[in-house]
Amino acid sequence: MSRGVPYASDGLFPRPRAVVAPGAVHVPGWLSEVRQRELVEACREWARGPVPLRHSVLPGGAVMSVRTVSLGWHWVPYRYVRTADDVNGARVAAFPPWLAELGRAAVADAYGDAEAGAAYAPDSALVNFYDGAARMGMHQDKDERSGAPVVSLSLGDTCLFRFGNTEDRGRPYTDVELASGDLFVFGGPSRYAFHGVTKVFEGTAGPASGMRAGRLNLTLRETGLGGTGSRGTRSGEWGGA
Ligand code: SIN
Ligand code: MN
Repeated sequence: MSRGVPYASDGLFPRPRAVVAPGAVHVPGWLSEVRQRELVEACREWARGPVPLRHSVLPGGAVMSVRTVSLGWHWVPYRYVRTADDVNGARVAAFPPWLAELGRAAVADAYGDAEAGAAYAPDSALVNFYDGAARMGMHQDKDERSGAPVVSLSLGDTCLFRFGNTEDRGRPYTDVELASGDLFVFGGPSRYAFHGVTKVFEGTAGPASGMRAGRLNLTLRETGLGGTGSRGTRSGEWGGA
């Protein structure tokens, strides 16, 4: 079969660790199957509340096709707030210490740098659920006041993840298949690179992932907002860097 058209790899070929751009590292199969199932179970719990999984609405009124639940801080396009006043007014679930520990291990392994791992202190996560039709347009993660790396963990169906440049949504970019258990870290010179999800390959998750259908992605972030903040940030105010 030709690779001219993107499709989900069939597992016949090894998927080596890849530095996609400086500071952007893909580590296939980083999560064990046991860990994947634990994370899927945790996501199911978070999806129930206190703020349930829901479609975010962009400032112009467009509804995002992914469904999202936040931890630590509630993300509403394009800022972090303490209470989900756009949903039910509740405070989102706490960001658990074990997830911060997983984030530290992720940074240490992706960069081969124990010190960078130890210094990582994520306080928020966005959990995104994609059904087969969901996509995410090219965007930058720039609502955080911290320039610390973003740690991305994928579960369930494989997707095509487009990782671009820091200038605009167009080329050059690299298309990467993110499968269940894969880790992707972007920081340093790639921290503000545009990225998005162009396709989900329905039915590609093995049963071992614990997902019956669809794809979950967790991104761990340092908001830089501190422990007591009640203000939101807007990308414009912080210049995105
Ligand atoms: C995101 O950019 O927030 C999510 C990326 C992904 O789903 O892999
Ligand atoms: Mn993003």
